[in-house]
Amino acid sequence: MEQQKRYGHFDDQHREYVITDPQTPWPWINYLGNEDFFSLISNTAGGYSFYKDAKFRRITRYRYNNVPMDNGGRYFYIKDGDTVWNPGWKPCKTPLDFYECRHGMSYTRITGKKNGVEASVLFFVPLKKWCEVQKLTLKNESKEVKQLKLFSFEEWCLWNAATDMENFQRNFSTGEVEIEGSTIYHKTEYRERRNHYAFYHVNAPIQGFDTDRETFVGLYNEFADPQAVMEGKPRNSHAHGWSPIASHYIEVTLQPGESKDFVFLLGYIENEQDEKFEALQVINKKKAHALIAELDTTEKVDKAFAELCALWDNLLNIYKVRTGNDKLDRMVNIWNQYQCMVTFNFSRSASFFESGVGRGMGFRDSNQDLVGFVHQIPPRARQRIIDIASTQFPDGGCYHQYQPLTKRGNNDIGGGFNDDPCWLIFGTVAYIKETGDFSILDEMVPFDNQPGTEVTLFEHLKISMNHVINNLGPHLLPLIGRADWNDCLNLNCFSWDPNESFQTTENVSEGTKAESLMIAGLFVVTGKDYVALCKKLGKTDEAARMQKAVDAMIAAVKKDGWDGEWYLRAYDFYGRKIGSNECDEAKIFIESQGWCTMAEIGAEDGMVAKSLDSCKKYLECEHGMVLNNPAFSKYIYEYGEISSYPEGYKENAGIFCHNNPWVIIGECLAGRGNDAWSHYAKILPSYVEEKYQTLHKVEPYVNCQMVAGKDAFKPGEGKNSWLTGTAAWMWYTVSEFILGIKPDYDGIRIDPCLPETATDYTVNRKFREADYEITIHPNGQQKGVKSIVLDGKNVDGTVIPYAPGKHVVEVTM
Ligand code: BGC
Ligand code: NOJ
Repeated sequence: MEQQKRYGHFDDQHREYVITDPQTPWPWINYLGNEDFFSLISNTAGGYSFYKDAKFRRITRYRYNNVPMDNGGRYFYIKDGDTVWNPGWKPCKTPLDFYECRHGMSYTRITGKKNGVEASVLFFVPLKKWCEVQKLTLKNESKEVKQLKLFSFEEWCLWNAATDMENFQRNFSTGEVEIEGSTIYHKTEYRERRNHYAFYHVNAPIQGFDTDRETFVGLYNEFADPQAVMEGKPRNSHAHGWSPIASHYIEVTLQPGESKDFVFLLGYIENEQDEKFEALQVINKKKAHALIAELDTTEKVDKAFAELCALWDNLLNIYKVRTGNDKLDRMVNIWNQYQCMVTFNFSRSASFFESGVGRGMGFRDSNQDLVGFVHQIPPRARQRIIDIASTQFPDGGCYHQYQPLTKRGNNDIGGGFNDDPCWLIFGTVAYIKETGDFSILDEMVPFDNQPGTEVTLFEHLKISMNHVINNLGPHLLPLIGRADWNDCLNLNCFSWDPNESFQTTENVSEGTKAESLMIAGLFVVTGKDYVALCKKLGKTDEAARMQKAVDAMIAAVKKDGWDGEWYLRAYDFYGRKIGSNECDEAKIFIESQGWCTMAEIGAEDGMVAKSLDSCKKYLECEHGMVLNNPAFSKYIYEYGEISSYPEGYKENAGIFCHNNPWVIIGECLAGRGNDAWSHYAKILPSYVEEKYQTLHKVEPYVNCQMVAGKDAFKPGEGKNSWLTGTAAWMWYTVSEFILGIKPDYDGIRIDPCLPETATDYTVNRKFREADYEITIHPNGQQKGVKSIVLDGKNVDGTVIPYAPGKHVVEVTM
């Protein structure tokens, strides 16, 4: 394969990805914000902001699937004589003398140069503040005096991102703004039920403004050539209805060598009901003034930025590895952890593939995401577990999703995904192992958010396990319900109607015959965890009860879940095998190989090794392991959405990166370090970055949900970047199973599984009140810890017993 064009490179020292060509094969984005106020920003400053919920509190407008792609965002237009340009190249696309976009940890810095002027914009959301800062620095690098005309630009969304793009008969009449000094306030619908508004401010006097889009842009112009900008004349327009925007106009004179900073603030404010107005129709701006005052100088902004950077220093100090392999170290120490934080915050709601209106926080997704994040901010993971469990039903079933703003189960999406309950165990156990905080199990947690229904979280875990036991099919394997982890394996759905969604349409029959081997494996893995937890709590009867159920499940898999060379995937509505050599297509699926090998079902009979070998033989290709093989070539209505995708895409034989780690963990448990590593490196972004920037298309610094598989038209093309369980699973896999540093109730278990080429490495791991420096000497071994020396003393077994303080650990394999 010849070297592909490169659009950027990693800068590990600054923890940045540096994009040097604005014409990336797809917008390469970053996320700003850590708690309430969030923004998406592309490498050309496209994207949008929202408060908490990308559907219900969308602050700026964004048009997905636009032409050209990624049109609209926060733009600065600089008019220098007859030349109009943007530091991020778009939307004017005036050729720049220099362009650079640095995506860092919760910030992005975009720099452009044209005709002796440098414009550099730092975008970030300060900690605990509801605003996006845009610090623009203009510098005259020429020998002449520069007279520049600067126009800012934001377009307001009318809050509900869904109705904003469909209810025009109303929308074109509701838009309202107020202008006060250098601040433009967006107060659409504030006169009625809303108690929130937004504003766009700059810390400098302005010489004009615009708030009506058509007046600013012109009816027949575009973002690339707004009339006001092209003519160098703001219109001072007031929006009434139509589409409100915010644009400041500033005349800037720069002497040779001179530079000036401007702080632009995009803010969000909520007021109490009885404090909404200052006068009739005049919004109460007190809180806006206060927020502005906190960030109205370069010094204050720089301080807020330093605080944000310090947060990331701390977060990334908790687990740090030095292997000498930069490609591995940068993913483990920086980008994988960063992506985990983003998936934890956003679940699957807002990316450049998720519109922010369709999906909230997933029950299964969020439980997985928190495993990638729990070591960083455990209290937030704790709260998340309680929020998720609060949407559960008394029988253990769950809403598939909930809305972050209301924290209520989302009725539009429904439930009945029978794997969902098990994930609560997965998330909770990870939290307790990290923190040692068993008290979470005593928290009183309601069902379906109904006050008065509270039981302990432990009880929720118990009914989660019971939900599987109470829903077994003819082979004593778990009934799949609407689907399992694979949302597209809809075995009870039978849809011939193109107008219905596979995800929500009524199942033909709830409790029929369709059974899932993926849930079987998941049940055994989480069941073992649950048993261990019960023992830890002294609940021996409950431990014994569940051990019996786990043993029964193992027996059922061995009896009716094995196909000879691999684990079956499922039984369909009629009780016929899915994922069997007997099938015409899709003879083997990855999910059941992953979960049943992680559960080590039949390891003693060689089943695990055979299954792992079959993954290599049938699923593996240049870019990773595909989900099923061969791909479905036609729609099979008993199977649902899975066979609706063309070959090689998404759930039909795409490389669903999310489940590759399951097999990799299976490999690690089996001690096959070479195989584990070769699977891992294939989907590790830094390795892909080096080889396939053009083919892969999407951001090379994070994992994507799906890479087109070997049966696709263009194998290797990535899609659905950023918001994917892949992040947490890659992290879990590399941190705990490959590098082998695994939190446990009483300490840290050390059990690496490495390629035989691995050399000595050191992990610095903060754990509760302790700080470990762990050096591993692999000695060419793939698996097996021979000795552990803790602070100079030999340790029996593989768990370093927890004790606060600093410790040095030497591990020999
Ligand atoms: C996608 C799945 C996704 C599901 C639920 C399907 O169209 O292929 O990956 O989980 O929708 O939103
Ligand atoms: C994406 C969904 O977010 C996740 O929950 C699901 O497991 C996978 N797709 C596979 O369908």
